[in-house]
Amino acid sequence: MKYDVAIIGGGPAGYTAAQKAGAAGRSTILFEKNALGGVCLNEGCIPTKTILYSAKMFDTAKGAVKYGVGAENVSFDLGRIMARKQKVVRKLTAGIRTLMSEAGVAVVQAEARIQGRDGGTLTIAAGDELYEADRLILCTGSETFIPPIPGLEVATCWTSREALMAKEMPASLVVIGGGVIGMEFASFFNSLGTEVSVVEMLDEILPGMDREAAAMLRAEYTRRGVAFHTGCRVTGVDGGLVEVAGSSGTFTLRGEKTLASVGRRPVLRGFGLETLGLETKNGGVCVDAFMRTSVTGVYACGDITGRSMLAHTAVAEAETAVAHILGRREPVAMSYHAIPAVVYTNPEIAGAGATEEVLREEGRPYTVRKVPMTFSGRFVAENEMGTGMCKMLLAEDETLLGVHLVGNPASELITIASIAIGRGMKAGELASCIFPHPTVSEIMKEALG
Ligand code: NAI
Repeated sequence: MKYDVAIIGGGPAGYTAAQKAGAAGRSTILFEKNALGGVCLNEGCIPTKTILYSAKMFDTAKGAVKYGVGAENVSFDLGRIMARKQKVVRKLTAGIRTLMSEAGVAVVQAEARIQGRDGGTLTIAAGDELYEADRLILCTGSETFIPPIPGLEVATCWTSREALMAKEMPASLVVIGGGVIGMEFASFFNSLGTEVSVVEMLDEILPGMDREAAAMLRAEYTRRGVAFHTGCRVTGVDGGLVEVAGSSGTFTLRGEKTLASVGRRPVLRGFGLETLGLETKNGGVCVDAFMRTSVTGVYACGDITGRSMLAHTAVAEAETAVAHILGRREPVAMSYHAIPAVVYTNPEIAGAGATEEVLREEGRPYTVRKVPMTFSGRFVAENEMGTGMCKMLLAEDETLLGVHLVGNPASELITIASIAIGRGMKAGELASCIFPHPTVSEIMKEALG
């Protein structure tokens, strides 16, 4: 069985590549050992956003009186929250299956193993069969990194996977790592009444996000009772006891559950990658701007490259790779400079383009235009006592370099910023666009004055 394109891994990178290649008439085969949709759909983006929405509803209902609405005895049912999450996942996984069959993609539900490359032909084994392909796209994703902390391996420590399958609410939770996963779960469990502590090695949570935005979010969650221990390392875990070392000494936190969220690592083992001998760097597969690896005919997209571990980056990379494979006359090189990043806490925070920290580090001059979210009428109408920020960073010629938001619905608004930055727009060009009134999006026009 010989195919034009073979893809290993059916997450956002893999299923996008398969759909694009199949729809363009290339014979395409997709190997997935677990469920289609990958981590994003089955145990990442979609299930977390589903349960976070339940937590947000619970928060809203508890605070309804501020809006003149009575809601007494507000309660939640963790079992039903989790059951709904599974229903959402099932529905979307079925959607991907349909997408594959509509694009004529052959889906093999089995673990694939690369056998090697002979001339221009790549051989892949799965089940009892051998498959050949002219092009191979590696989309094997990433896995949770468990840091070498004494006791962590043997402790019944959660990763995001187990946290998403919680059957009971823990009375207390220690989160190791105040990154995106750590903060989204801190938000969920804090909303539903768990006593949450976050231990973060760096001196601010959410590295990579705008520091001021991260600090605002930390202040908000501190107000809600989350205990933050920044600049602290976890040095040991013993059952429910977490030993922490900070600048002022060591201390112990007690948690009924512990969540390890210190990062994810590209998956490079277990599928015969070594037979290709391709170049890797910092634990990820090296690729060029068209997602080509160092081996002719082999591409890599998504978390496996270790570049930007986001589902929407994976989708863009897959589109780039397939456009190159299809030999489009002027394939567009993958660009990373305007990729939006969102943390789905409540309030959400989001950013696109450069942060002040990066611009300072690179010595690039910039000016800041910043307004509180309360300058938006719609925001005030819908966020009683809510605070937030819209910060825009401009180059000397007023080209938009970065936009950073705190406040709902930052996850939706950031798309506008990402498009503007990606298209190289200047402040005046964005400000001259017509934003519907009243919407929170007007805050960008407001910030630009
Ligand atoms: P992360 O890299 O975002 O955060 C890990 C955090 O752990 C960092 O702040 C780091 O300083 C800290 N840390 C590392 N070692 C530590 C230690 N020994 N003690 C205390 N703190 C320590 O990784 P995370 O949150 O696990 O997420 C993994 C990937 O998944 C990320 O690339 C993220 O972008 C992606 N993701 C994206 C989401 C989104 O877009 N909303 C949601 C969830 C995950």
